[in-house]
Amino acid sequence: QAGTLLQGKNILVTAGPTYEAIDAVRGITNNSSGKMGYAVAKAALEMGAKITLISGPTCLSPPTVDKFISVVSAEEMLHAVQAEVSQADIFISVAAVADYRAASIKEQKLKKLPANLLIELTPNPDILMTVSTLPNPPFCVGFAAETENLEKNAAAKRNKKKLPLLVANLAQDAIGSDENELILLDDEGKHVLPKAAKIEQARHLMMHIHSLYSKLKKNDEKN
Ligand code: C5P
Repeated sequence: QAGTLLQGKNILVTAGPTYEAIDAVRGITNNSSGKMGYAVAKAALEMGAKITLISGPTCLSPPTVDKFISVVSAEEMLHAVQAEVSQADIFISVAAVADYRAASIKEQKLKKLPANLLIELTPNPDILMTVSTLPNPPFCVGFAAETENLEKNAAAKRNKKKLPLLVANLAQDAIGSDENELILLDDEGKHVLPKAAKIEQARHLMMHIHSLYSKLKKNDEKN
C-alpha cells in the first residue's frame, strides 16, 4: 500500500532555483521551475511521509505539505536546511542552487556607464555536501542536471558528495519542462526511468528511495 510506506518518516526536500541579488533590483538565477522538487514532495506525501519543503522562488503553488519554507538565496536555503535537518530521516536535494553569489550586494540600483561592468562572484556553500558530511546524516539524495557527459559527471558528483543515491538528468531536457528522463545512480549501478511526466518520475523515484532506505535500516538493525 503506497499510502503508508513512508508513514512516520520525515522528509526534507529543497526545490526551485535560488536568486542571488546583485543590487536593489537585479540578480543571478537559473531556469529551474521547481516542478521536479514539488513533484517529489507530492509523491512522498502520497506515501504517507511528513514533508518539509524548502523552496526558492517559483511560479508554482506549493503542494499542501506539513511545512513550507520560502527562501530566496542559497545562504537562506542553507540556514533553513540547517534548522530542519535534525528532524529529517531523508533529505532530497532537488534545488538548483546557484554556485555563486555577488561578493557584495549594492544597496542602490547600479548605474549604466559606457564601460564594461565587472561583478565579482564568490562561491556559495554546497548545501547538500554540508548535510551529507554531517556525523549522523539523514539518507541523502542529490540531483545532477548536466548538459554533457551526463553519467560520468553524475557519478563523480555522487562520489564527491558521498550520496547513496544520485538522480541524473539532462539539463536541456529537464529544466522547466513537464517531462524528463531520469538515471538513478546508486551502489548497485544505474536504473533508467524513461521519459515520462515529472509526477510519474517522482513516484518511481520515491519507491526507489523507500526500497534503498528500508534495506539500509534493516542492515543497521543487524549490526
Ligand atoms: O550544482 P551541482 O550539480 O553540484 O548539484 C548537485 C546537487 O547538489 C543537487 O542535489 C543540488 O541540490 C545540490 N547543491 C546544493 N548546494 C549547492 C550546489 C548544489 O545543495 N551550492
